[in-house]
Amino acid sequence: MSGIELALRITLTLHFIGLASLLGGFLTQMKAMKTGGSITPAIFHGAWTLLITGFGLTGLVYAQKAETGEAPIGWVLGLKFFIIVAIFVLAYMFNKKDKLPTWVLPSIGLLSVAAIAIATISGVVAATN
Ligand code: HEM
Repeated sequence: MSGIELALRITLTLHFIGLASLLGGFLTQMKAMKTGGSITPAIFHGAWTLLITGFGLTGLVYAQKAETGEAPIGWVLGLKFFIIVAIFVLAYMFNKKDKLPTWVLPSIGLLSVAAIAIATISGVVAATN
């Protein structure tokens, strides 16, 4: 395995830890969500971990392109980027607030599940030739 490949796999592991943190943090709020709930540290840290590792993954996939002939699918990356920025902005705006409007956490949950579904059903990288 090349150094870039190893770096990619380690970054993907961190991407999944961010994903687990975001979704897990959301799931712990399912009951509290009915009356507002709160942005837990797991949600907040999961969101920025996904964003940063996502950038890293994109760079590493391109770094390997000459060897693998694969590149990220533009619309998938674009949607994922849009979704994680929306989640991050919501998490940042309502971080450490006691009373959240009741739409905030369901929106974060729906956006997270949408990003997981898009990434998994479509795949994120594809052959370019
Ligand atoms: C809520 C946000 C996100 C979720 C739930 C998510 C989820 C996932 C999942 C499940 C995979 C594995 C899919 C597969 O390997 O076929 C993946 C891979 C990937 N993600 Fe994300 N992601 C998110 C945000 C981002 C962002 C913002 C970027 C880039 C700016 C990004 C870039 C990538 C790349 C390049 C891969 C492919 C790695 C590879 O297969 O070599 N992700 N993501």
